[in-house]
Amino acid sequence: MRRTVRSVESFHQMQNDPRRMRLQLPTVPQISADALLAKARRANPELVRGWLRRRAKAGAARAGFMVSRIDEEGRRYVAVTHNDDVPLPPGAEAELRQDNPRLVELQATYDALDLPSAVHTQWRQGFLKKNLSLAWFRGDNAYVWQFRQLGHAARIRMYLAMLDVLERDRLGLFDTLREDGLFGAFTFEFGDRPPVSRDLLDSINEINYLDQQMGLSQIEGLRVLDIGAGYGRLAHRMSTAFPGLAAYDCVDAVATSTFLCEYYTRFRGLPETVRVVPLHEHEKLAERYDVAVNIHSFSEASHEAICWWLDRIAERDIPWLLIVPNTPDELRSTELDGSMRPFRQDVLDRGYELVDDRPIHQSDELRELIDLHDRFYLFRKRS
Ligand SMILES: C[S@@+](CC[C@H](N)C(=O)[O-])C[C@H]1O[C@@H](n2cnc3c(N)ncnc32)[C@H](O)[C@@H]1O
Repeated sequence: MRRTVRSVESFHQMQNDPRRMRLQLPTVPQISADALLAKARRANPELVRGWLRRRAKAGAARAGFMVSRIDEEGRRYVAVTHNDDVPLPPGAEAELRQDNPRLVELQATYDALDLPSAVHTQWRQGFLKKNLSLAWFRGDNAYVWQFRQLGHAARIRMYLAMLDVLERDRLGLFDTLREDGLFGAFTFEFGDRPPVSRDLLDSINEINYLDQQMGLSQIEGLRVLDIGAGYGRLAHRMSTAFPGLAAYDCVDAVATSTFLCEYYTRFRGLPETVRVVPLHEHEKLAERYDVAVNIHSFSEASHEAICWWLDRIAERDIPWLLIVPNTPDELRSTELDGSMRPFRQDVLDRGYELVDDRPIHQSDELRELIDLHDRFYLFRKRS
């Protein structure tokens, strides 16, 4: 996350700035703690607060930092936000509530499961409380970072990212997939082009990548398993791109995600070939899939949970496995103590080989400009 703390060098630069009169910190007289308390008791609380603020700033500056208030746009980069330009559809607010009986039921069932995948290291209740506004689940939150991923100048960065994805759109998905900004998604419009969002760009990029690598669009009766499917972002996009898809199964170990995925796939009117399989029914997953996808999900689970999922993949002999981790240089888990354990070897140990590994945005210059360094890791089952 971005903080408005600048380095000591920039503080010194400011000292040489002709505008420095506005930037200079107040000098703080040295007084004893008792005198300070006595003064505080007598003083106007507003003035005391201001004095304390200035004192804290001065202390931070002496330590080499400058602390300043961030503006409205800046707040988007550090907080859960959503775009309410498009109102929620009728009934959404009434249904997307923590006390919805279906969510309560899923939560109780998942809590009672004795499965490694159901033990959470990141996606715990506190994390969800801080990082998700349920009814606005396509906003900037735990599922898809939009502003926080793009940082300042989001519009320009989004434009560059769009040009990059457009360049490789061999399936013409910019013409078939649309973004309506529902449920809080931030959308960007450029000229006469239809609006784009992070959800749309990521999905188009992933589908084209899989098509280029394994001929996704040419597979008769395509069957996809999406592990850690979130609210069903890719299920929605892929089933719209390939209406003839034979199966797209979404599975997740977080009750809120399963709940939202059930809601969203129903709301979008996706065909019956798209299923949301609750974790406790994981044995209902199909025997055969052409590809398993895991986009930013294994990285947010424990090593034990990941190995449990890898066993489910390996026992089905799924020929292709796409992983997009959160740490671009390596595949790593998130453990309870905050450490991260590598799991590339665990994939290889189950009979897979890494056949491709590349950044999701392919131009070096562009990646630098948009500061987005995620990578695709594509594995294939050895025959
Ligand atoms: C950042 S979201 C990504 C969602 C989706 N793959 C996408 O790209 O839109 C991470 C997802 O991982 C899921 N997740 C967290 N822990 C998991 C676990 N132990 N097993 C499976 N999924 C998990 C969360 O519920 C969430 O849906």
